[in-house]
Formats: sequence, structure tokens, C-alpha cells
Amino acid sequence: MDIKNSEYEKYIGLLLKHNEKRREGGKEMLAYVYTFGCQQNEADSERIRGLCASMGYGRAQSADEADLIIVNTCAVREHAENRALSMIGELKHRKAENPDTVIGICGCMVAQRERAEQLKMRYHNVDFTVEPNSVYMIPRLVWQKISDKKYKRSFMWDTDTGEVCEGIPVMRDVSHRAYVSIMYGCNNFCSYCIVPYVRGRERSRKSEDIIAEVNALIDTGCKDITLLGQNVNSYKSDCDFATLLSRITEREGDYIIRFMTSHPKDTPDALIDVIATSHGRVEPHFHLPLQSGSDRILRDMNRKYGTERYLTIVKKLREKIPDIAITTDIIVGYPGESEEDFEKTLDIMRLVRFDMIYSFIYSPRKGTPAAEREQLSESVKGERMRRLLALQDEIAIEKNQRAVGTTVRVLVDGESSEMGIYSGRTAQNKLVHFSATENDVGKYLDVEIERASAYVLYGKIKNEKRI
Ligand code: 5AD
Ligand code: SF4
Repeated sequence: MDIKNSEYEKYIGLLLKHNEKRREGGKEMLAYVYTFGCQQNEADSERIRGLCASMGYGRAQSADEADLIIVNTCAVREHAENRALSMIGELKHRKAENPDTVIGICGCMVAQRERAEQLKMRYHNVDFTVEPNSVYMIPRLVWQKISDKKYKRSFMWDTDTGEVCEGIPVMRDVSHRAYVSIMYGCNNFCSYCIVPYVRGRERSRKSEDIIAEVNALIDTGCKDITLLGQNVNSYKSDCDFATLLSRITEREGDYIIRFMTSHPKDTPDALIDVIATSHGRVEPHFHLPLQSGSDRILRDMNRKYGTERYLTIVKKLREKIPDIAITTDIIVGYPGESEEDFEKTLDIMRLVRFDMIYSFIYSPRKGTPAAEREQLSESVKGERMRRLLALQDEIAIEKNQRAVGTTVRVLVDGESSEMGIYSGRTAQNKLVHFSATENDVGKYLDVEIERASAYVLYGKIKNEKRI
């Protein structure tokens, strides 16, 4: 479906007229979007902001001044849900101050029936919930809330039609970097993961729509584009993912295409070849979630590959793309993980020497098979996490030290938490800090690396003569 020419276009038009009238009357209507969770959620929030703008809402600096507040939630771990719930609770102050404020909750958390019910029963400040695949419904929900005197709060689940909705405007914060979703949902049902239950089955966008979006971004000066999907390797439309990537990068220009996430069970050689022959247009970086170094645990996780297959992919990547950075996701404390299983994870880390690891303490997710198993104690999980992080720090420092004395090309993102120190990323997606100015943001600069920590390279702009 396309939001243009759909029933939702009518609600966008009605809201636009309504908000313009308010503006003429001296009141600018503002919207604020909170985002929890992964890049997919960030990308969804960009679409939600685009929808808000098309409905005539200006952008609020904080929820305190917003007339429409949307909270985009995450469900992948309990901690993310708790944070979102406490934030939603806080919003009651805004509603008390201005009862006309519209509050909607979307994202993975509310695609679980019991969470939608919990919000309905216990969070009276919330006007509606909407599932991640149905954000196009937001204009109708907002319009009903503000126009219907007898409005009944709306808490929905099972609204996913399995379709992709094209044509939702996207509002990005910066112009030099962008996410582009190429597919939605997941069919893998890893036994710890809630995503397939809340984001539904895999569906891919048409390659022509993706290529048009990427080209439009590059036309407007975007230099770094990340193609997103829960498992991009199972992208399936009129072509497969490797073909999509090679078609996108046929275009000449100074840009980089990134992608995430790949699944080791279906990472084909053709994809590695596309990266190797892309003239640097596809990032020399591969994010390949391992999850565990124990074959027994991988089987239990329903990952459908073993460590041998994983190591074969790593070997091929390094043979064909010698400077490739490899990063991964690891879960610590999965039910039944013995000390021996955990040691195997440390062993594979020593073998592969990842450039970076995203590590997670296993969090039981209701409705997933692993949540039913006997759980490890928090102290065992915590102790293993500390050991894993200590090992990764050692490896990453040693690897990053090798960059000291070299010059790297960095796309400048913006000021870091330290005044005057800017951060940017290399083609390998390494984080670099250096002194720069606001004028450098969005540009490529050569930075000489002077020192390194496990997570950051520090340097100075090469040949810089500034006063
Ligand atoms: N507990 C901990 N980590 C999880 N992940 C997914 N589900 C869980 C869970 N229940 C991690 C996986 C995945 C990453 C995005 O989040 O490592 O790759
Ligand atoms: Fe979750 Fe596995 Fe799908 Fe990734 S591939 S989203 S871990 S079910």
C-alpha cells in the first residue's frame, strides 16, 4: 500500500487544516517523538516525525511543550520496557498541565497484547497504542482523539496486515547520514528473541523504491547510508540482497553504503564479493551476530549455524577484504549456559578478535521458548558479563593501538560530550574524536590518530592550519 491515495491521507489533510487554523490563531501545534531501542526504531521514528510534520505539527524541543507526544518503545530486553513505562508514567504531568495533549505509544512493546492492556488499565494518560508495522494509522488515531467529543481510547494489537506501507515522509535529523529500511519483520524465531512476535513476518520493499530513496539521499549530499533489516540477507523482492547492494553501488560518487543486520546462517559468498569489488562504496565492516561460541547453545537458540560455519565466513571476509572490521552481538547467561559453554564464547572471541562487541545479559521475554527454561542467577550472569567485557577491552585496545600513527578518513558527525571535540566515523565504522568546528560537520576529513582506547581513536586533523 501507499499512504498517498489511502484513507490515511484524508486524516493527514484534516489535521493539517486544523493545525494551520490554530497557527493562524497564534498557537503553533508541536509534536515530540521519544525513541527507545535499535536503529530500526530510529528509522521508524524518522517516519513518525515525517508524518507529524505532514499533519502540520512543528517540532517540539521537549515533551513539556508538545501537543502531540509519541513514544516509540522497544521490547527486546526487560530494561528497555521498564524505562519506557517509567517515561510514559512521567507524561501524566504534561497531561495534567494540558489535558488536550495527545499521547500515543508505538513500537515493539505495545505489539504485545498484555502490554497494550496494561497501558489501557493503568496509564490513563495514554490515548492510543499502535504496532510498529502500523504507524501509518497514527493520523487517524490523532484525528479521532482531537475531533471526537466521545473519543474512546484505542489499544490495538494484531493490526499488522503483512504489507509494506510506502510513501510515508521521512524526517531525518542530519543530512549527511541516513537509515533506509529495506525490509521489516523476522522469520527466524531465535528462541530468546521477541522480535518475530512483535514485528511480524519478513516483508521486503521493492528494489526500485529502495534505489530511488538511496539515490535521492545521495543527490542531496548524504554520504553515509545504512540499509536496515532484522536479517538483510533474507531480503527477497525482485532480487536478492547481494544484487540489491551491487545495483545501489553502481552509482558513482563519494558515499558509503552500510547494512545491518546479517545472519550467519545465510550470508552468501556473493555478498562478500559485492563488498570486495565495490570500490569502497560498501563499508569494509561486517556486523555478524554470533550470540554464543558454544554449538550446543547455538542449537538451543535455534540459530541454525554452528561455530564452524561462523568461522568460515570470518575467514572468507578477511581473505577477500583484508582491512574489514568485524563486529558482533553476544548474549551472556542464556538459560543452561554452563561455565564450559561460556568459555567457548571467550575462546572464539580470542580467535576472531572482534573490533567491537555488543554484549547483552540474557533477559527472559515472555512468550519466547527460552523464557520457559530454568534461568541462571543474576550473579552468574553479571560475573560472566564482566569477564567478557574485560577480554573484549584487551582485544579492542590492542587492535585500536595499531591505528596509532596512521591517517584515517572520517565523516564528521558533530560535537562529542566534550566541548570543541568532535566525533566522526571511519569507513570501518570506528569512532574517532578530534578538535574541529561546526563547519566541519557532514564533511570528510583526514585525521591522524595519536592515541587509542578500546572504544575510541583520538587524533588531529591532518595538515590543519587554523587560527
Ligand atoms: N536478551 C538479551 N539479548 C537479546 N537480544 C535479543 N533478544 C535478547 C534477549 N532476550 C540481543 C541479540 C540480538 C541483539 C539485537 O539483541 O544479541 O542480536
Ligand atoms: Fe531476533 Fe533472531 Fe530475528 Fe535477530 S534473527 S531479530 S535475534 S529472531
